Amino acid sequence: MSDALNYLVEVRGDALGHYFKFLKDSGKHLDPKTRDLISVITKVHAQTENGFKQYLTRALRDGCTPLEIIDALLMAFPALGLAKIVWATDILLEMGIPEFSPELIAAQPQWRDLMAVADLADGEVRRVDCGARSVFVYREGESCKVYDSHCPHQVTNIPHLALEGLTLTCPKHQWKFDIRTGDCIEKGKHPLKAFETKIEDGRLFARW
Ligand code: FES
Repeated sequence: MSDALNYLVEVRGDALGHYFKFLKDSGKHLDPKTRDLISVITKVHAQTENGFKQYLTRALRDGCTPLEIIDALLMAFPALGLAKIVWATDILLEMGIPEFSPELIAAQPQWRDLMAVADLADGEVRRVDCGARSVFVYREGESCKVYDSHCPHQVTNIPHLALEGLTLTCPKHQWKFDIRTGDCIEKGKHPLKAFETKIEDGRLFARW
């Protein structure tokens, strides 16, 4: 929520509560993905950048694919017009979400060769670039965990400098994550996105 809405809720929660209850009830017969897509469209229509980013992230978290989101924007063309669709697309591109890259947007998940396991010491963490995506790799004994470098809050691409010991802190709103589990341990509530892994012939692969 914006600072302004937070303020109004604080000082006139009795009145604003009705508004939020209305918003909640008005979509109760829709599945979460449909609600998310409608919310994305309304934020583009109002051209509220933070709201668009917030609902876009939520839509991805709830399982909407990038192509579904783009289709929703294109279908809303009669209401949005081309200028607002381009406005939203510019923001999408600035956000650098790997799933929207031309390389990944229509690709089937496949195994990606990340590195030789021996190049990582037990307990070490490394940020690795692989095509359109960067990941954090954590080695624990003979197994490895692989997490998307994008924050589950608003998809900020978290740099390697954000790592202190085994804690990763997103620079945008300071959500903290335990790199051993991917769990969010402070401020937020969503874990890092983890990828399926396998080790073959001493090399670590992750699937996306
Ligand atoms: S984008 Fe908000 S904490 Fe990462």
